[in-house]
Amino acid sequence: MQGGGGRSFVWESAKMVNGALVHEAIQSVKGRTTRSVFPFYSRGWKPLCALLAAGFALSAPAPAQDPAPSLLGPGDPAWLVYRQVRPGAVFGSASGIPDAIVLLGQDALEQSAARELAAGWQGMLHRVPRVLEDAEPQAPGSGETLVIVGTQAETRRWRPEIAAGSALGTDAYRLHRAGPILLIEGGDTRGALYGAFALLREIAEEHSLLALDEHSEPWAAVRWTNEWDNPDGTIERGYAGPSIFFENGHVRADLTRAASYARLLASVGIDGCTINNVNADARLLQPENLKEIARIADAFRPYGVRLALSIDMSSPQRIGGLATFDPLDPRVAAWWQDKVDEVYKVIPDFGGVIVKADSEGRPGPSQYGRSPADAANVLARALAPHGGLVLYRGFVYNHHLDWRDAKADRARAGYDNFHALDGKFEPNVIVQIKYGPIDFQVREPVSPLFAALPRTNEAIELQVTQEYTGQQRHLVYLAPMWKASLDTDMRASLDAPPLPVRDLVSGKPERGLEHTRGGFVGVSNVGTEGWLGNPLALANLYAFGRLAWDPTLGAAALSDEWTRLTLGNDAEVRAVVNKLQMNSWHIYESYTGPLGLGTLTDILGPHFGPDPASAEGNGWGQWLRADANGVGMDRTTATGTGYIGQYPAPLAARYESLKTCPDQLLLFMHHVPYTYRLHSGKTVIQFIYDAHYRGAQAAAAQVPAWQSLRGKVPDATYAEVLRRLEFQAGHAIVWRDAIANWFARTSGITDDRHRVGVYPGRFEAEAMTLDGYKPVDVTPWEAASGGKAVACLDRAACSASLTFDQPDGWYDIAVQYFDWSGGVSHFTLQVAGRTVLAWAADADLPYGRMSGNTSTRQTLRNVALHRGDTLRLTGEPDGDEPAPVDYIEIVPAGANAQARP
Ligand code: GCU
Repeated sequence: MQGGGGRSFVWESAKMVNGALVHEAIQSVKGRTTRSVFPFYSRGWKPLCALLAAGFALSAPAPAQDPAPSLLGPGDPAWLVYRQVRPGAVFGSASGIPDAIVLLGQDALEQSAARELAAGWQGMLHRVPRVLEDAEPQAPGSGETLVIVGTQAETRRWRPEIAAGSALGTDAYRLHRAGPILLIEGGDTRGALYGAFALLREIAEEHSLLALDEHSEPWAAVRWTNEWDNPDGTIERGYAGPSIFFENGHVRADLTRAASYARLLASVGIDGCTINNVNADARLLQPENLKEIARIADAFRPYGVRLALSIDMSSPQRIGGLATFDPLDPRVAAWWQDKVDEVYKVIPDFGGVIVKADSEGRPGPSQYGRSPADAANVLARALAPHGGLVLYRGFVYNHHLDWRDAKADRARAGYDNFHALDGKFEPNVIVQIKYGPIDFQVREPVSPLFAALPRTNEAIELQVTQEYTGQQRHLVYLAPMWKASLDTDMRASLDAPPLPVRDLVSGKPERGLEHTRGGFVGVSNVGTEGWLGNPLALANLYAFGRLAWDPTLGAAALSDEWTRLTLGNDAEVRAVVNKLQMNSWHIYESYTGPLGLGTLTDILGPHFGPDPASAEGNGWGQWLRADANGVGMDRTTATGTGYIGQYPAPLAARYESLKTCPDQLLLFMHHVPYTYRLHSGKTVIQFIYDAHYRGAQAAAAQVPAWQSLRGKVPDATYAEVLRRLEFQAGHAIVWRDAIANWFARTSGITDDRHRVGVYPGRFEAEAMTLDGYKPVDVTPWEAASGGKAVACLDRAACSASLTFDQPDGWYDIAVQYFDWSGGVSHFTLQVAGRTVLAWAADADLPYGRMSGNTSTRQTLRNVALHRGDTLRLTGEPDGDEPAPVDYIEIVPAGANAQARP
């Protein structure tokens, strides 16, 4: 019901009941304050400068209509765009918008909350509120309303009757409406900041705040990101430009981006960040470097993000001058204690350390016959007096396995190396476990180690950076995959209550655990280019933070939240983006590695393009065991590696039996003939073919779906996403063809639907009329159509020509070529002597030669062709890139978009 002035009835009556509160709030703040000359923020210019430095546009709030700010570029606000909302939907009417933000405390985090609220008010509500802290505000006009920000202790001191009845825990918050007051009450000041972000989220989503009463606490105490940044400014497995922290061996002079990142992290409840590569450079612990790193901690601090470091276990020897790094040697223990004390002198709120040891060539305790617990504990004892944590990674395995040994199995390593150590770790050690037992594949079963350490603190490690999932060049929204791991039930028997992984990592005894610490770690690897490069990939960082806060949230709901915050509340935009996001994992899985095969990428190279054979015949243990007769790893207890036996009985039984093993994980768990029938009745080999065709088709369909949003999302976002989706559509064909051909050759079984190896309209470059171009073999063979391409090796320009011999009409022309970072070749396509397309191969795809990593496509649609026309493609090499071409494909216009998979 609407009252006068558009206010709702609830709001009016609440105001009448609590009318005195506003006045009292102002008075009580007044009692200890001085008058401010600056109306926006009572403490003057300093916070204003910080606000500007954080990338806010104070004088230019987001305009009512698009264009909204771009998602890319420096100062990128990511999802903290603060687009204009309809105040009536939130506050009943525009006159219900609170006029002032009152801080009950002095803490830097509460000040951050106030700054953020003010920025949100400006962007979303087009209001500049008064921010009152240590200030005497002007007397409130009638109808003035307030946002109050404080801890529970502060709120109790101020107005016990509106404070939460029961104690709010660490980092928890409560949002509560009491008449004209909107209360943001934190269990501590970090909680107050999180509450402010939660309130802003509610406003951005245009939820009514008239009857607000929300209480939220984090699922687990540890909610960290890991950034794999190197001191030289590169980022291991980073796909969005250089480091925001380091440059040329030093911490960057300008840490604006580091501060902005902390703000983003805080907005979703992340409270810790490891800033350097797990393959750690020991020198970062040297005193001069620690001083520099302390500046990053300073940039994080106002947002409650604790800085943590990856460390090299051999540091006592490498930089400490000791002859050993044996964790049981007292000199080593003393060295660590001194080092840790030194760290806390410069970073008093240091979060702790992450350890990668005895893994992929990193030094570790095994060198002295010591266990991971020995190594973790020496660090833990040094950190304990300061409240610091050790996150010891469970990613310990031998990468020199004997691939001829049918019982060898990398997936077993986590459990085998750690389960006997259960209960042997210090209380401030957390074992950080990757979600799957291998390595961030497109699909893995959950690691059995989660269930094997009942008396040990555990954290789940998820990967936000899309190392094995398309490196942000492909759209893959990962929340559904993470949910699949978090929701996996690890109970020991069916009589016991469910024990999902999310409970195991909660660290909460009330969830039936014997340990008290747990958490979520997301390997983010953000860079300077739009944080994650692909604007839509930011939904992964967002969802990671939100799931770390509450893993019961749904993947679809989180996609929708992210979309509303980032792109607005328009129903069509939400529908299109949510559908794209929610389908993306399955699409990617379909054209890469379905049925639990793993990503089938180039595991010895950049982990990007197709190269299934790279997984076989080496010590890395990502074997497919594909031969002429069958495919898949036999991990059963009956005949295989026994890996399945590492699971609790109910799950083990499910995986062990072919009858109950889910198709999605079949080839992870079992070795079967290609003719084995899935639960759907389809044979394995036919499923592989169909999935790849279906997946590539679905990837192509993402392009027009996104194009339907032209003009409805910011132009820069539109263009950047479109560019990436078009690349993905082309690369999905590279994947489809490579994997389907590889399996056709390996299995000797043809596709029922006769698609594999049959490409209507495709002209192999090596079969065209060549002028200067030379045919070359491509490795792996399946990365190029027909196994061959052409390269312009010793001329300034080469060309390949064909005569079009189809009926006159409109056609789409695709040129498949190879593009890498060692040069920028140029191409020109002519039809009947006229140039119709010219482009530069400047995509910097990873890898330095022709391969599935570098094969890419340029498409020109709706071209009028006549029978007898000559198509001539000219390539000009550059650097070490010889303008290589795989094929030209000419299909009736729109045929690829319409063809059924
Ligand atoms: C993957 C990744 C490495 C990384 C490792 C890890 O294997 O490719 O770059 O160092 O994971 O998590 O330690």
